[in-house]
Amino acid sequence: MTPDEWAAGIGFLTATGQKCDAIRQEYILLSDTCGVSMLVDALANRKSGAATESTVIGPFHTADAPEIPLDGSIASAGKGAPLLVSGRVTDSAGAPLAGAVVEAWETDGHGLYDTQYAVRDVPDCRGYVRTASDGRFAFRAVLPVEYSIPTDGPVGDMLRALGRASMRPAHLHFKIAAAGHVPVVTALYVDGDPSLDADAVFGVKSSLVARFERHDSADDARRLGLTPPFYTLAHDFVLEPALFPAAV
Ligand SMILES: [Fe+2]
Repeated sequence: MTPDEWAAGIGFLTATGQKCDAIRQEYILLSDTCGVSMLVDALANRKSGAATESTVIGPFHTADAPEIPLDGSIASAGKGAPLLVSGRVTDSAGAPLAGAVVEAWETDGHGLYDTQYAVRDVPDCRGYVRTASDGRFAFRAVLPVEYSIPTDGPVGDMLRALGRASMRPAHLHFKIAAAGHVPVVTALYVDGDPSLDADAVFGVKSSLVARFERHDSADDARRLGLTPPFYTLAHDFVLEPALFPAAV
């Protein structure tokens, strides 16, 4: 390595740190795009049997997602095509986990997280519900769309230098937690997305590709108080028992 190369490396890492603030996390982005996040995740979260696989948390998770009632909406009006999400949270034996926290966050229909807007008075397109006694959950959201990771910082410079794409396939992020069980940070990817095989952060796993079914029926939409087209996603999550249970 030459002194100039060494200085360029120091400069790159310094610029990565300087791009971070309370909302923007360029270092997570660097870790994600280098595949380090998925490697750490794979080593730390070895799942057995039917347990839901994990994936990158990404740079857009926040700590202020609000609790919403079952069947409520994590997205405010007009944020995108309506999506009805439902499923169950169970343990490895299929027994329902009541009171489990199902947190979700996603892009709006423009491919942007709420944190990417200049004004963010309240969290949007993020929230959590608690499962009912039978382990079921349901909430409304919007159809996530594919998006480019932020490329206006050092990570963008790196991707351009390497000739790499910056797109992520459309996905809905989840964080599932239940008392006495290992929590899982994961995401469900929209089946058929053209970027499934070229994710900029290597986050796609085949078990996490899910069917977001499109519905065009005006009658069905009216019955649900929606306008067509709308989408449905049904998916069950399975948690492993924790060796050292923590409160949720
Ligand atoms: Fe994401």
